[in-house]
Parts: sequence; C-alpha cells; structure tokens
Amino acid sequence: MNQRTPLRLGIAGLGTVGTGVVKIIRQQSALLSARAGREVVISAVCARDQSRDRGVSLSGYAWETDAVALATRDDVDVFVELIGGESGPAKDAVEAALAAGKDVVTANKALLAHHGQALALAAENAGSVIRYEAAVAGGIPVIKSLLEGLAGNEITRVMGVMNGTCNYILTNMEKSGRGYEALFEECAELGYLEADPNLDVGGIDAGHKLALLASIAFGTQVDFDAVELEGIQRIELSDIKHAADMGFKIKLLGVTQMTGRGLEQRMTPCLVPDTSALGQLDGGTNMVVIEGDSVEQIVLRGPGAGMGPTASAVMGDVMDIARGVRIPTFGIPAAQLVKAPAAMASTPAPFYLRVGLKDKPGAMAKIASILGEAGISIDRMRQYGHQDETAPVLIVTHKCMRQALDEAITAMNATDVVSTAPVALRIENL
Ligand code: HSE
Repeated sequence: MNQRTPLRLGIAGLGTVGTGVVKIIRQQSALLSARAGREVVISAVCARDQSRDRGVSLSGYAWETDAVALATRDDVDVFVELIGGESGPAKDAVEAALAAGKDVVTANKALLAHHGQALALAAENAGSVIRYEAAVAGGIPVIKSLLEGLAGNEITRVMGVMNGTCNYILTNMEKSGRGYEALFEECAELGYLEADPNLDVGGIDAGHKLALLASIAFGTQVDFDAVELEGIQRIELSDIKHAADMGFKIKLLGVTQMTGRGLEQRMTPCLVPDTSALGQLDGGTNMVVIEGDSVEQIVLRGPGAGMGPTASAVMGDVMDIARGVRIPTFGIPAAQLVKAPAAMASTPAPFYLRVGLKDKPGAMAKIASILGEAGISIDRMRQYGHQDETAPVLIVTHKCMRQALDEAITAMNATDVVSTAPVALRIENL
C-alpha cells in the first residue's frame, strides 16, 4: 500500500464508539493527515439503523447493510469492527476482512479472548495486522505500552482494575452506604451495564481483557478459559466496612503472572491496601499496573469506557496503521506463542473470610478447627452479635493456598453451624 495514498476505513457499528470515531475523523482530519503523512478517510459504514440521528454527519460514506460486504469492499483498507460479540457478524466480518487482506481494528475483547490465536494466525497468513487497543481499559494505551514501550522488558506481573462498572459499584457502596442491589440498579439507569450485565458484574468482561494482556506480556496463546473468574455479586456492605476497618478496599482485581506451575490469570474481588494506587482508584476509572525486570513498575490510569476515550484508542490503532507500524497481534508471531499450562493453584496469600454462624455452643470452635485441620492459621478474628439467629464472623488468615481454603469452606458448609455460605476474598499486598 502506498503510504501517501489515503488510508480508507470501513466502519461496522455506529453505536457510541463508532460515532466517536466518525467524529474524530471529521473534526481532526488536518491533524490526522499531518501526523500520519497521509489522509485518513472513511469509505463506507454499516449499522443496523440508517435513519437514526447520531449527532454527526454521515454524508459522503457508502452504506452497507452487511458487515461482511463492508469488510471486503475494494475501497476499504482497514476494517474497523465495532459491532461486538464473540461470534456472529463481528467474527464473520473480521474473518472475511483478513481473508481479503485487509487490516483490522477492533474494540471486541470477547472475540479476541475466545478466538485470538486463530485470528492472529489468519492475519499473519494474509499479511494483515489486527489492532485492539480499545478492547482493554478504554482510553488507556496499555496494549501499546506492552507491545512497544516495554518491549525491552521481561514482564513479571500485570495487574489491574479493568471494569469501570464494578469499580463504580464497589466504591459507591462504600461512599453512599447503599447495598450492591441499589448500586446495580443505579448502573442500569445510568446505562453503565453491558447488554448482558453478567459480563460486568460476573467479571467476564474484565477477564477477557486480562487474558489479552497475559498473552502479550508472557508470549502465550490467549486462554480465557483458564482465567479464574469471580464476580462482585456476593460482596456485602459489611464486607466493605470490615475491609475499611482493617485498612483495605475491595476491588475486582485482575492479576496475571508466570509462575513455576504455569500461567496464573485471575480476575476476582480482592482486598488491596487503601493507601495503594489501586486502593485509591474511585468510580468508573481503570488502572493497569505493569511490572518488568528493567522498568520495575508503571501505573497507567484513565477512563475505561465512553465515547471519547474508546474512540481515542481506536484512532491510535488507525494512526499506527496509517504510519506503517506493523506488529504481530500479540507481539510475537502467532505460531511462536506458547500454549502455557494454567497454574493449577495461585500463589499463597492471606484471605478475608466471612462466615454466618448459627447461635449454637461450639459453633466458633468447629469453624476454627476446620481451618486448623486444613493447615490454615488464623491471623485475626471478630464475631458480631447474633441478628436473626446469625452472627457474622470475620476471619483474616495467614498466607494459605486458595485450594486449601476452598476445601475448608466445603467442610464448613457440611456442618450444622453455618447459616450463610462463606465468602472468601484474597488479600493482595501490593
Ligand atoms: N463495561 C465495561 C466497563 C466497558 O464497565 O468497564 C467496556 O468493556
């Protein structure tokens, strides 16, 4: 492709992000041309509803009703996929674009988390690139940081809060004293929830993002199925209050690192020190912490969603393609990505455990002895008065393996003294 000819885009999906991309291209065309050394133009678009007023002119663009037809047009160099979904039209059109030798820019974390390896191979066979900055942490250029700025480092750990909706719920539970259900409803009213809210509150959306970062960081094939996933639905106001009493905040935290036992990937609610950068992250903001052997630690913080930030990330990718930057999808050729074994158990850590106990003599002793038999030592323990015949008991353990704790919880559930199923949250000392 001649670098001086305009770079021609086909944009599929004109929702919030697609509309934001059109706005940037219309409003910043001179700046984009100057920076890329060539014009960036839109040839054609595709969306379900042609008549909707999106607050931006779409004149001059051809309309397609079918994303595959758009992706394979002769006047499209880059297919910009903003439809979403791990299968269906998004996948069909991305595959068609790659087969036709087009480059692809997408914001679709689910598609890449499930099909990243196959799509990366298809791209390389076709001599195309796939770019997906907008898929992870909205406007934060985290993928570019890993692929380029930190390319000289052996990455040792990546952590992050990568779902703004969950962070909004958790921080506002603490600030407002309202429960999970009330904040969930507020998010629904504010339009913060994905069409399937379980993608947000179940940790799946953030898990997709973590799986993509793990692949780049450790040169491994994307393996979303190996991500240990837990949502925030069982977090109660009392957990947040007790965590605060002990100097912690509760965050839906992603952590990935290569261990002697394989690749650890987990996206689970954790307690983090309230004085840490992650502990101080409020509202819908995202944060990614990257550790490398030479750089030591960097912290990236910014908006994880929204029209401007996500369109900004899409345009960063478009501009790289316009400038001729061509990097393999996950940093090294797809055939060289290793299929890493999943670490069967994550590293030992202290845990916060909440158990509802019935008012029975010896109930506390039973719980303590189950932990003792599992080799788990108690660091701190507190019991509150019985309400409705249940006493909340909060335990902080010394370091132990999650698997041992899970076995202990199974044993607790089998006793006649537990009234509410225990909740265990890892304490991540950052
Ligand atoms: N629903 C996501 C969030 C944004 O709340 O962060 C898109 O991944």
